[in-house]
Amino acid sequence: MKSTVKILVFGGAGFIGSNFVRYVLKRHPGCRVANFDKLTYSGNLDNLKDVARDRRYQFVRGDVADKTAVDATFKKFRPTHVINFAAETHVDRSIHVGAKEFISTNVAGVFNILEAVKSMPGVEKYVQVSTDEVYGSLSLGSRSEFKETTAFAPNVPYAATKAGGDMLCRSYHNTFGVPVVVTHCSNNYGPYQYPEKLIPFFVLRMIEGKKLPMYGDGKNVRDWIYVLDHCEALRLCLFRGKAGEVYNIGADNEMSNLEIADLILRMFKRDRSWIEFVKDRPGHDRRYAIDASKIKKELGWRPTTHFREAFSATIRWYLDNREWIDRVRKRTGVFNPHIDLWKGHRTMSK
Ligand SMILES: NC(=O)c1ccc[n+]([C@@H]2O[C@H](COP(=O)([O-])OP(=O)(O)OC[C@H]3O[C@@H](n4cnc5c(N)ncnc54)[C@H](O)[C@@H]3O)[C@@H](O)[C@H]2O)c1
Repeated sequence: MKSTVKILVFGGAGFIGSNFVRYVLKRHPGCRVANFDKLTYSGNLDNLKDVARDRRYQFVRGDVADKTAVDATFKKFRPTHVINFAAETHVDRSIHVGAKEFISTNVAGVFNILEAVKSMPGVEKYVQVSTDEVYGSLSLGSRSEFKETTAFAPNVPYAATKAGGDMLCRSYHNTFGVPVVVTHCSNNYGPYQYPEKLIPFFVLRMIEGKKLPMYGDGKNVRDWIYVLDHCEALRLCLFRGKAGEVYNIGADNEMSNLEIADLILRMFKRDRSWIEFVKDRPGHDRRYAIDASKIKKELGWRPTTHFREAFSATIRWYLDNREWIDRVRKRTGVFNPHIDLWKGHRTMSK
């Protein structure tokens, strides 16, 4: 008889992790899921209220940088599959607050998971969820894209710590045969994202009647993917990805920050006078673009979401879920504490 699929998810209370937990429970009715999360400011059990009573699901509060807690959870749950979303994820924080927590969670945390997988028989696959930011920046106007073979060139502490975790994964596969897969995905949009990140942050500013602060000239380009398209790619990596491989995930959807702002302004029937250009962020990468042909060819993945529809639905979700926003605000206070740093730094008019 085939044994039960038991997925140990790290960081499942955050934006992508909570979408993934819900998605995988739906796609695999026979599976069990344990969600290990520290519940930092961006982790929120409200994101998983609808599955909290599902008998296949359990929550464990813990810090991935705490080896004892990680080992105990592995021993108790005995996972067949492991996926790690746990991370400090906000680039601005890694610059203005400091990189210490980033190193602890994004590097030491990955080390703890690798050690646990190495010493625990029965884990078929570990997926380390990473970012395209490890590859650095592409120039605007070029047609080049990040491939799995592109050299790492992180420009901000967040990206450097993610690259560090990814390198550890590579070494643990090559040295010890740990069955790990690393993914590099582009920017996600969708429900349940902590409102310090661009899209929910701008929506909130609009709701509050405030201008949209735009770094630099706003022409920085990101490759946007709907969160559930990312979740399906991760599910495929978890069950069909080849150990030791790296997969880039992206939906061929390059948009500048100004274009994203324009879409939001249009939904609120406002014009560009609502954009306030502010001093650029240090180390601000100009352009990201992903070549996702490997995962398409080898695992048969395709993004299935229509951008305009899913983008509008995402904005509507934040408008319809004001209670969720209010509860997050009550719990964590100001969404982007660095906003004051922007004041007085206006560099250009619209
Ligand atoms: N959001 C994106 O656009 C994007 C794109 C590509 C890759 N990623 C990667 O996907 C992963 C998830 O990103 P997200 O946007 O959902 O982030 P998020 O900030 O919304 O969630 C992070 C989660 O990790 C938890 N966490 C943080 N430190 C922890 C620790 N020490 N121990 C246990 N749990 C801890 C938090 O409580 C939270 O639930 C990250 O690894 C990120 O690098 C994100």
